[in-house]
Amino acid sequence: MTAEKPIACICLPLEPELEARISACCRLEHVSRAAPLDVLIETIRDATGLLITNRLPIGDEVFAAAPKLRILAGVGVGYDAFDVAAATRRGIAISNTPDVLTHAVADLVLGLLFALSRRLVENAEYVRSGGWSHAAQAPRLGFDVRGRTLGVVGMGRIGRVVTARAQALGMRTLWNDLFTQLPADAPPSDYRALPDLLGESDVVSLHTDLNPSSHHLIGAAELACMPPHAVLINTSRGPVVDQTALVRALEAKTLAACALDVLEQEPPAADEPLLELPNALVVPHVGSATRETRYAMRELAVDNLLAVLTGRTPPTCLNPEVLR
Ligand code: 8YV
Repeated sequence: MTAEKPIACICLPLEPELEARISACCRLEHVSRAAPLDVLIETIRDATGLLITNRLPIGDEVFAAAPKLRILAGVGVGYDAFDVAAATRRGIAISNTPDVLTHAVADLVLGLLFALSRRLVENAEYVRSGGWSHAAQAPRLGFDVRGRTLGVVGMGRIGRVVTARAQALGMRTLWNDLFTQLPADAPPSDYRALPDLLGESDVVSLHTDLNPSSHHLIGAAELACMPPHAVLINTSRGPVVDQTALVRALEAKTLAACALDVLEQEPPAADEPLLELPNALVVPHVGSATRETRYAMRELAVDNLLAVLTGRTPPTCLNPEVLR
């Protein structure tokens, strides 16, 4: 009698070659990427593996419904949507996809930096709406990034790459994190306590993960530390910034502008005030959204999934203690 193949529940479309790798040792169950939590719970009752993005909050309710579950392979570096402690208690491994998206996110940070510094959106809109053709009043001038100070909050993988790239652009860099010792593989940069970093930076870029200590890390008091010409870039997680306080600062022009890839609520309500502000540039959570990077994320998630299902060590496990 041959042993039954374990069930792997896949919650996003995969390339045929990635699916084939999974189906070589598992039975596949597909769930739509947009499926609500109750549909997911219903589908994973007998699943041993789950491959999913970090769109839905996955906690003990889901784990309890899937007694055979051994691995949740997340497609994304952020894992604030997953209750890792609850998974660990149930012996379920959780993995994420670090490294493979670092450069794509750093690219977006630089894109947003230049979009703000050179007013790319206003200038493109000026041309598209006929302003240039009619010699209408052009948008205001931008600012040089060379010689400006970039404050990086969160000196993890992405923060370090953003720091190095900003230095290559001739920017001076500062950093802040929960630790105060610059990691050995980080580019040289000056540590500052958060209020000092905010006060000294012309551009602040957020790269912390979302956890209780970083929730609303940037609120009214922190925004008040920033000089009125400064700009804020957030490609980390929306709730790291108190969005209501941010709207107030942008309206009062105590902060010049922001560029956000992430919001407290995604997608935002249609009447979200930020979307009305001329000094807020918002893009729809596209930090990792390149073909190559998204493929690399899916591939790494499949590597993690298959490793656990075949008794090997997954490359990027968040709670390796469950594997022992
Ligand atoms: C999403 C992200 O995971 O990696 C992260 O933490 O936020 C994004 O890359 C991605 O949109 C999910 O496919």
